[in-house]
Amino acid sequence: MKIKIRPISKGAKDLQHSKAGIIITGSGSATPSRVLTNDDLAHMVETSDEWIKTRTGIERRHLASPSESLSELAAAAGKEAILASGISATEIDLIILATSSADDLFGSGAKVQSLLGATNAVAFDLTAACSGFVFGLVTASQFIRSGVYQNVLLIGADMLSRWVDWADRKTCVLFGDGAGAVVCQSSISQGNISQGSMEANDSLLGFSLFSNGSQNDCLTLAYEGESQNLIEDVAISKGNYNPIAMNGREVYRFAVAKVPEVIEKALFEANLTTADIDWLILHQANQRIMDAVATRLNIPSEKVISNVAEYGNTSAASIPIALDEAVKKGQIKSGDVIATSGFGAGLSWGSAIFKWGK
Ligand code: UT7
Repeated sequence: MKIKIRPISKGAKDLQHSKAGIIITGSGSATPSRVLTNDDLAHMVETSDEWIKTRTGIERRHLASPSESLSELAAAAGKEAILASGISATEIDLIILATSSADDLFGSGAKVQSLLGATNAVAFDLTAACSGFVFGLVTASQFIRSGVYQNVLLIGADMLSRWVDWADRKTCVLFGDGAGAVVCQSSISQGNISQGSMEANDSLLGFSLFSNGSQNDCLTLAYEGESQNLIEDVAISKGNYNPIAMNGREVYRFAVAKVPEVIEKALFEANLTTADIDWLILHQANQRIMDAVATRLNIPSEKVISNVAEYGNTSAASIPIALDEAVKKGQIKSGDVIATSGFGAGLSWGSAIFKWGK
């Protein structure tokens, strides 16, 4: 049997005894062009632009058309991130698709791999709802730090418009569709090591992740089935997924309590304080949550990146879309320290503190 061994780059050969670190070298995003405004929603359910804006900060959301697929949207974001990182699709070793709304329950990661022509990449889906991007970033870093993979494409993508009950004003005003992506690379393969040390630079400075399944009922997109007898004494469940259901007040309380705490834990691990943060990018669920978290952490509003007014809550896509827009605007520069936090269904929450760029 012939075993194919990938060549190690010259820099990597020289440094193969040092510990690999992760660097985040490119971002991209894609959102559907069609927009639904708060006023449009006011024609559908009993709500108003004023209520939505004051309670959430959301003004519009972008919604995928019936012919657009999650895989295509994710691939479009991934393509931009690969281009921005300066590598080619065939150099990607791993694709992690963080999503809760795949085109196929078996996963859409492999479809994205094929759309991108990333023929050397293994791909899988990661489901952690609105925490998906942060959980995915930490997962990507483990593969890179262990030396297994050099180039990982992480995509956060969701089309929750497919799963929203558009007659439920408590949830339908919140969600939108989109995808965002980053390329994570090994600092060893990039020759990015500290002077006079065998330690490779590592841009993931600290992280902290949590789950609490005892509050699972607070936010669900749950399967429900009915018993169907196949033969006597052998029954299976046949059913479908119910639309998103949320106890908004409970999730709000959870977010405002847990997000500052988890960011502080990740900062502690990074040996940093809130004063060291250049930018705060929270999961874009609600402007009031972002303001409350920033106030509790004593982070000035100029450092808080928000695009919730334009896109609403795009679940796993919200952090990478906000990151990509800020990079494109020139707001976020190479070397800036970014604190992120994702939170949502599970319940799940987490924070990753990282340095942007090569
Ligand atoms: O991505 C996952 C993470 N998800 C979140 O972070 C969401 C967290 N929760 C929230 O952001 C907020 O709880 C919401 C925006 C969902 C709701 O805001 P709220 O200030 O907590 O409102 P509420 O649920 O306490 O409802 C206040 C009132 C209620 O009426 P009564 O019972 O006081 O008469 C609701 O029925 O507002 C009513 N209401 C609405 N009114 C107009 C609820 N939704 C609407 C609506 N338009 N769309």
